[in-house]
This record gives sequence, structure tokens and C-alpha cells, in this order.
Amino acid sequence: MQNALTTLLGTEHPLIQAPMAGVQGASLAVAVSNAGALGSLPCAMLTPEALQRELKALHAGTTHPVNLNFFCHVPPQPDAAREAAWRHALAPYYAEAGLDIAAVPAGAGRVPFSHDTANQIEAFRPPVLSFHFGLPAPDLLARVKRWGSVVLSSATTVAEARWLAAHGADAIIAQGLEAGGHRGMFQSDDLNSQMGTMALLPQLVAAVNVPVIAAGGIADAAGVAAAMALGAAGVQVGTTYLCSHEATTSTPHRTALQSEAAQLTALTTLFSGRPARSIVNRVMRELGPLNPAAPAFPLATAAMAPLRAHWEALGSGDFSPLWAGQNTRGCQNLPAADITRQLVKGFSLDL
Ligand SMILES: Cc1cc2nc3c(=O)[nH]c(=O)nc-3n(C[C@H](O)[C@H](O)[C@H](O)COP(=O)(O)O)c2cc1C
Repeated sequence: MQNALTTLLGTEHPLIQAPMAGVQGASLAVAVSNAGALGSLPCAMLTPEALQRELKALHAGTTHPVNLNFFCHVPPQPDAAREAAWRHALAPYYAEAGLDIAAVPAGAGRVPFSHDTANQIEAFRPPVLSFHFGLPAPDLLARVKRWGSVVLSSATTVAEARWLAAHGADAIIAQGLEAGGHRGMFQSDDLNSQMGTMALLPQLVAAVNVPVIAAGGIADAAGVAAAMALGAAGVQVGTTYLCSHEATTSTPHRTALQSEAAQLTALTTLFSGRPARSIVNRVMRELGPLNPAAPAFPLATAAMAPLRAHWEALGSGDFSPLWAGQNTRGCQNLPAADITRQLVKGFSLDL
């Protein structure tokens, strides 16, 4: 199917594999791009060395367009009192695991897109760049646009979509509340402002003059067709790719996605400091998914990481971010190309 979005992205189909930091690298992006959709490489958590390695793998794996994804958050001021409260909340779990909380390294874990990052990717000439949590500063945005990169970003409200359109986004991802992973919200932290895909999408389509891409809860061809019927120019799908052969999703995460546990997801700040949708696990149940002690994004990650590593080594996802959208019905152990082929059938379904 060809439309304004395929023209913009240079793809055969208006389908984007959502960038998913922590559960995929270049292999998933390559498989999806070679199947005619737009594969994405999440770059927010990559060191400069890892980024170069992944860019080489993209270059070697496909001649089709691929999207590079970055975060645009404003790094927070460290807050000693909140950090102390957070460590206090986690202390019993450290004791249970026999770990030393004093040895936890402080650190951000995720850095926002910067001129440094732009230097690292410039030679690659990324055809598409997508951002979460807004857009980079105007000079940085102008720089990537001079390369010819098409710029996408997620909106979770009508006001965010209008802001993105006015500030240079070439297409806007309407991220419904069903979506897995971090809410892309960047203008408010009021979770009541967040809407489901079916409510958000038509309102965004009416509000802006750039193509709108539906995301959140789309797991099969019928979901794709429904989004297109509501005026989407294309779709972005994440959760449905989490159990694909090429994803690096951990075993406890895959098991949770394909079990009854996936029926209960919640927005949680425990793993990073920003609300993100995860399957509910032990630490979310016991501390409460939105515990106010969790430090601001991305500082909550550091003290949770040793607990996560400890329990994952024992085969448990009880302290891991089990990111997942509300619709896990599409999670299948299949090559990503097969999943892509199933989804694109939705573009020719007549509703
Ligand atoms: C495991 C996981 C990790 C994610 N990581 C990112 C990310 O690094 N960058 C980003 O822009 N979006 C990220 N997202 C959100 C997706 O872009 C998208 O909004 C979401 O997957 C769509 O909803 P769905 O999961 O129901 O398909 C992530 C989603 C998941 C499930």
C-alpha cells in the first residue's frame, strides 16, 4: 500500500516496528525493513561503541530505510533526599538478595539526544529519526533535517500533537494508553490526560496536517485496518514483535508475555522514573507501581538494576521491567518477517 507515509518513509508498507530499548538490536530492525516495513533501532540506552556496532550491522543487513530512535528528556537535578528514600524502600530487597546497597553506582543510564550523538550517526545519514519525549532543541533538529532525515515523534494528547507539528515533526505517532513501554508524554505528567488509541487517533488526525501513525494495542491485521479506518496514515507496532526470533527479550519476559500474567499491566515509574507500561510483577505489587520515592527519570534505574540482575540470573522477572502493551495476543515465536507479513494484510482488509 502506498500513501503519504510510505512516500515520506521510503517503505513498501506504512508499518513501523516500534523501537524498543532493552529488548532488541539491529537484527529485528533489519528483518522488518527487509520485509518492506520500517525497522527501528532504539539508541537511547546504547554506549557510543554499541551504537557504532549496531549501525554497522544495519548497514550490512539492509539497503532499505531504518529508523533510529532517541530520547529527548531534560536530565533531572539529582535529589539526595529522594535517592535516600528510594534506597530505603529497596533496602529490604537488597538484604533478601544478599546485595550491598552502598555499592550501587549512581548514573543516568539513558542520555538525551545531543550534538555528540549527532556526530556519531551523521556518517550513517539516517533516513528516519524518531524521538520520544518531544523533540531535540531547534539547532539540533535543524541539523538532522539538513541531512534529509525524516523526523517522527510521539504525541499522547492533542496539545502535544499540535506542538510537534508546529515545531517540525514530519509525522506524528499517536501513542494510545494501551501502548507498552514509556509514555511519550512531554507536556504534562497528569496521567488522566492520557487516552486510549481509539479516542486519541481521530482527534489527532483532525488536529494536525501531517500524517498520523497509530500506536498502542495493535496486534493483528484487523487492528491495523481499524487504525486506518480511523484516519491513520500508518501504524507503529511494538509488543507484537517482543517474542519474535530476532528480539532479545529475556526468557522471564517472554514467559510473562505469553501467560495469564500479561492480562494485568500497569503504568509504573519504578524502573526508570517515568510512567511506562509493564506486566505487573512482585516489586510493582509490593511497592506500588507509582511509588513517589522513585527518583526522576532516568535516575530510578540505577538502584533497581542489581536486583533485576540478581533475579534474572535465577530465572525470575520479579524486579525487571516487563514492558508490554495491553494487547499481547499477537506475541508469537516467529521470525519478524512473518509477523510483518501478517500485520500488513490489514492494509488491504475492507472494513
Ligand atoms: C518493550 C518496549 C520498549 C519500548 N521502548 C521504546 C523506546 O526505546 N523508544 C520509543 O520511542 N518507544 C518505545 N516503546 C514504545 C513504542 O514506541 C510504542 O509506543 C508501543 O510499543 C506501541 O504500543 P504496543 O506495544 O501496544 O504495540 C517501547 C515499547 C515496548 C513494548
